[in-house]
Amino acid sequence: MAAKRGVGDAPVRGRRVLVRVDFNVPQGPNGQVADDRRIVEALPTLNHLRAAGARAILLSHLGRPGGHRDPTLTLRPVVHRLSALLGQPVPLADDIVGVHAIEQAARLENGQFLMLENLRFHPGEEANDPGFAAQLAQLGELFVEDAFGTVHRAHASTVGVPKRLPSFAGFLVDREVRELSRLTESPERPYAVLVGGAKVEDKLPLLRSFLGRAEALLIGGALAFPFLKARGASLGATPVPSGLGPAVNEFLERAESSGTEVVLPTDLVVDRGGAPGAETHPAANLPSDASAQDIGPETRERFSRRLAGARTVFWNGPLGRAEDSRFREGTREVLSRLAGTPGYRVAAGGDSARIAEDLGVTGSFQFISTGGGAALEFVQGLELPGLAVLPDA
Ligand code: 3PG
Repeated sequence: MAAKRGVGDAPVRGRRVLVRVDFNVPQGPNGQVADDRRIVEALPTLNHLRAAGARAILLSHLGRPGGHRDPTLTLRPVVHRLSALLGQPVPLADDIVGVHAIEQAARLENGQFLMLENLRFHPGEEANDPGFAAQLAQLGELFVEDAFGTVHRAHASTVGVPKRLPSFAGFLVDREVRELSRLTESPERPYAVLVGGAKVEDKLPLLRSFLGRAEALLIGGALAFPFLKARGASLGATPVPSGLGPAVNEFLERAESSGTEVVLPTDLVVDRGGAPGAETHPAANLPSDASAQDIGPETRERFSRRLAGARTVFWNGPLGRAEDSRFREGTREVLSRLAGTPGYRVAAGGDSARIAEDLGVTGSFQFISTGGGAALEFVQGLELPGLAVLPDA
């Protein structure tokens, strides 16, 4: 994708700059910020705006309140964390586009920040309502898009506002586009893709998009079960979603002629209800009371070797039930063995960043995207409305 006009070229001194950030962060039991990575990743843009004398008005959503005020989804804990990271107070405009927000925005001085309350408290945000977009746009004079995680949404703050104001990409968006483009535009070969997770219906479009584009597609996690079944494995007591047979068969047929090898687990770590400890069995034939939970040692070895021979590696999703310490070894081993291999290695989507952190394997990747669905749509080569609306450099 062509580079977008960047915030470094924006004439921001003394001007009110609307900055879309993705501070949709995981929350702890009392609403506190449980993981501030997305806030930290926005700091280069925010520090630049401060140093350049902008008056920055930050826009974000948190969760999915569905157009209603939900006190558990207030951005108050987020501004608290942000203020600490910036070393300067960031007030919160509670009424989003109301009179207080207008007054607070007008009173900003160069180098100061204001954050609007959760945009999704207002029904106009997700509806991309023109009236709401115009009210938001009136608060500023320029727009900076730095919410990479939200560029796949055509909402008022991601599309409506940039249509109304001179717009620029922030440093995070610029970096995400540059790094992820290495997966979509002439990736170095061989290109190997490692996908895990559970929801086959959700992941099929992603898997399909790699047919003919990657040399190898390695599938782990519960995602592998319908494919194993389609290839004749008997998976014992492992729950395999029904009704996916035709789509899975069609996928495997297309893979045959695509030049992409689909690599499935050959052994699985299982749980046998009453039986103590985890056992490993060949994936082709699990005992009738066994439920698959993780990839086995032979599969870890095969996957690791395959990835070590690749020049480009993309990973999304756990290869077993990584939330359970008994069944995370497959994911941990394969990802940790990636470290130091010669390829360009990228992780993206869903909980992948958090899992990599929990397993202590973030060092295995040169780039870990802040995007969930946005990153997965990007690597599929889909057009993302929040990027399409920004002018090219
Ligand atoms: C994300 O976390 O993927 C983004 O913030 C988008 O959130 P959404 O899926 O609720 O639109």
